[in-house]
Amino acid sequence: MSVQHPTSRRSALQKSTAVLAVGTAALAMSAPPKPAPAPPSVPRPARPAGSSVPKPVPVPRPINPTPTPAPAPNPGQTVAGPFRYTPFQVPLPIPVELSPVGIGDSPYKPGDCFHGIAPEYFDRRTAEAPHQLWYERGPEKYYEVRMQPSVHEFIPGVKTPIFTYDGFYPGRTIRSRVGQPIVVRYWNDLPVETSIHLHGAHTPSHSDGSPHFFVLPGRARDYFYPLSVPMLNGQPDFAESPSTMWYHDHGLDITDHNVWRAMCGFCITVDDIEQSLIDSNVLPAQQFDIPMCIQDRSLNPDGSLAFNPLDNNGHLGNIWLVNGVAQPFFKVERRKYRLRILNGCNARFLELKLSDGKPFMRIGKDTWLLPHPVEEPTMLLSPANRADVIIDFTDAPPELYLHNILSQDNGRGPNGSFTQRAHLAAPVPFMKFIVEGEPQPNSATINAATTLRHHEKLNPADAVTVRTFDFHRRNGAWQVNQQFYDPNRADATPTIGSTEKWILRNNSGGWWHPIHIHLESHQLISFNGGPPPAAFAYKNDTTYLTGNGVVELLMRFRTFKGPFVFHCHNNAHEDMRMMCNLDPRVTPTQAPTLVQASFP
Ligand code: C2O
Ligand code: CU
Repeated sequence: MSVQHPTSRRSALQKSTAVLAVGTAALAMSAPPKPAPAPPSVPRPARPAGSSVPKPVPVPRPINPTPTPAPAPNPGQTVAGPFRYTPFQVPLPIPVELSPVGIGDSPYKPGDCFHGIAPEYFDRRTAEAPHQLWYERGPEKYYEVRMQPSVHEFIPGVKTPIFTYDGFYPGRTIRSRVGQPIVVRYWNDLPVETSIHLHGAHTPSHSDGSPHFFVLPGRARDYFYPLSVPMLNGQPDFAESPSTMWYHDHGLDITDHNVWRAMCGFCITVDDIEQSLIDSNVLPAQQFDIPMCIQDRSLNPDGSLAFNPLDNNGHLGNIWLVNGVAQPFFKVERRKYRLRILNGCNARFLELKLSDGKPFMRIGKDTWLLPHPVEEPTMLLSPANRADVIIDFTDAPPELYLHNILSQDNGRGPNGSFTQRAHLAAPVPFMKFIVEGEPQPNSATINAATTLRHHEKLNPADAVTVRTFDFHRRNGAWQVNQQFYDPNRADATPTIGSTEKWILRNNSGGWWHPIHIHLESHQLISFNGGPPPAAFAYKNDTTYLTGNGVVELLMRFRTFKGPFVFHCHNNAHEDMRMMCNLDPRVTPTQAPTLVQASFP
């Protein structure tokens, strides 16, 4: 495969949509709209030689070319671009669960799907110890999902064309057991290439959604998720059991666009330890366990999503969404709830706070449960961070708001420094809780002293290699160690079975970068020269670099060979090449080198 110029495909996207984007960006806040502009067209992906690709399904034209007439502003109304609405009138949508199409013997045969299935599906031995099988408790579950255009109401009455998984936004929640393998066949009925990443999963390389492991339009790929945990001394290491993951698009150069158009959903797994906490009512039951995807978006006057592909700094919106709707309400009983909060924004950092000033009882950071709850008065979440929290509504006021208090005006990150960050004069209420009824007697029993699970602390003395990565800007685009991302170049080649120390340094003059490392959890040794904040002290998959910040972390590589990626999760920075390949090897390798596996 030839090495593409780092910005060539992005440039094509920019050229094809520049006129529209500039036009709509200028229109967004002021002038009356032109009638029904076409939705942004996106360049067709390169086709594999000799294949014929069916015609993609056309993107529906905007349904409401005339903007909602702006009524006289009423008190209590929110103005978002050309639209007005009254907040807290729409109930919080709870993402529905995705049902398997089969359990047990595979309904799929090798080769009956264009992109095939990961070779790891047929050979489930760990790379580290080839005699050793991955931890599995079967039986396999099979799912089928079609990625397709749809129309969604972010704001009541305003029809917005989006890209979805099966027409759902957020995509349906995959719920499974740790150790129960699943296969998901993703069909691409969109006019753009996609690649699906299960963020937080310990997954074979070919199913990890590496940016150029595309699902081409009109084609399908079978993703194999063992939902396994790394093995430690021949035993599954349940300190690493995933709990709250999410899936989203990860296509090379087009992630920012596809995620902005709504391609994301949750994947929630339990192991025996967590299930016994739920069964014994220490943790709330599923009915009181709510995934919440928080995002900002903005709309053009015709109701379509406003997206300027010339903006490489990061996309911010002015509409405040939870699970796809602007400022919903959520009726709760007087009891403890578990909220799995995801910052699903493309570039916005959030600092969340409850309006009654009570702290959050945080039980999870990113994919994993913490060893025990950590109390946080406010929670600063970068894009892709998750906060698994318990909120006790037993004595809450009848109305309670989930506020974002952080001020951010552009893709640079929050206004001000980490320690002196600027807060909004008027906090933004993302959501209103309506607390009803009498206190419930059977509320979950978790408290500050509850042990959630053990934690295997990595020892800095075990690190056999130290790697340093500098994140910085060049020519308006984004680099790591003076290089743009190249899908073929292996930037780190750890040896499987070893522990490494990585130093992530931010040399970009005050910009913040949330760095996500695929495959393995990482443990922070230091954060900006000091000890990491309490919730960051265990397992992380995304750690933000504050302006000129530096973190030191440890990772242990087990189970899977590469390549995987690590990158900035400001999706515009990621597309503009602030990304590297992490390529664990069985035998030690000298970098630089090519990645071991490419487009299957
Ligand atoms: Cu959530 Cu590599 O991404
Ligand atoms: Cu960045």
